[in-house]
Amino acid sequence: MSHSPSEVVQPLVRLRHVRRHFLLGETRVEALRQVSLDIHSGEFLAVWGPSGSGKSTLMNVLGLIDAPDDGEVWFDGQDTRQLDDNALTDFRGQKIGFVFQSFNLVPVLSALENVALPLQIQGLPEREARQRAEGVLAEVGLERFRDSRPDCLSGGQRQRVAIARALAIQPRLVIADEPTANLDSENASMIVSLMRELNRRKGVTFAFTTHDPRLLEHVDRKILLRDGSVESDEVSA
Ligand SMILES: Nc1ncnc2c1ncn2[C@@H]1O[C@H](COP(=O)(O)OP(=O)(O)OP(=O)(O)O)[C@@H](O)[C@H]1O
Ligand SMILES: [Mg+2]
Repeated sequence: MSHSPSEVVQPLVRLRHVRRHFLLGETRVEALRQVSLDIHSGEFLAVWGPSGSGKSTLMNVLGLIDAPDDGEVWFDGQDTRQLDDNALTDFRGQKIGFVFQSFNLVPVLSALENVALPLQIQGLPEREARQRAEGVLAEVGLERFRDSRPDCLSGGQRQRVAIARALAIQPRLVIADEPTANLDSENASMIVSLMRELNRRKGVTFAFTTHDPRLLEHVDRKILLRDGSVESDEVSA
């Protein structure tokens, strides 16, 4: 069956034969060997695998934080090899939200100010940035904590602020490297459920890594990395 061009859905991210190595003294570590995969808009996927299998390296490549030694990274139809450092920084700032293991909130700013910050960096006037940030804080159920500083919030609440901050720019993709590693199992499950709900309700595309097999129950695609290669890539029915 032939498809007209309008029927062909372009992947949000396309990796082709991506390789990334590191040198540890004399030793060459192949962190990613020939990884090829597509991520489509609307997906909710987890990357899992043993420590050292390349999960963070893959997240950094997907998030355009790190460039591969070899291979192609296409994001939203753009060949990222064509972008210089400044263009790449702008591109990332407009299209990708990040959530980190250690939350990375600015300690002297309130929850609301933390969420508004990426919008102000993009040049939105403060009043509008705060207005939009209020809406996003409400999406993660934290409107009551808008004036709280991170040190007055629990780990789970901090990570919800971080998710709101990632969502503020209305990213095409949210990348989360071990977002639940510093949380107890109850909060870990709550954070993954929240991301899942945002995925279902708002269509936000998430790619996250985890060590915890229990969290894989929530996802509709799991990519197993081993030794820098994709060992399996399972999509749930
Ligand atoms: N900046 C670096 N310098 C040297 N080696 C690195 C660097 N980053 C990663 N590596 C190596 O690349 C391999 C993959 O690392 P990576 O951090 O991607 O694994 P991971 O799956 O995220 O592990 P973990 O589960 O422990 O977070 C490892 O052998 C690691 O030691
Ligand atoms: Mg890692």
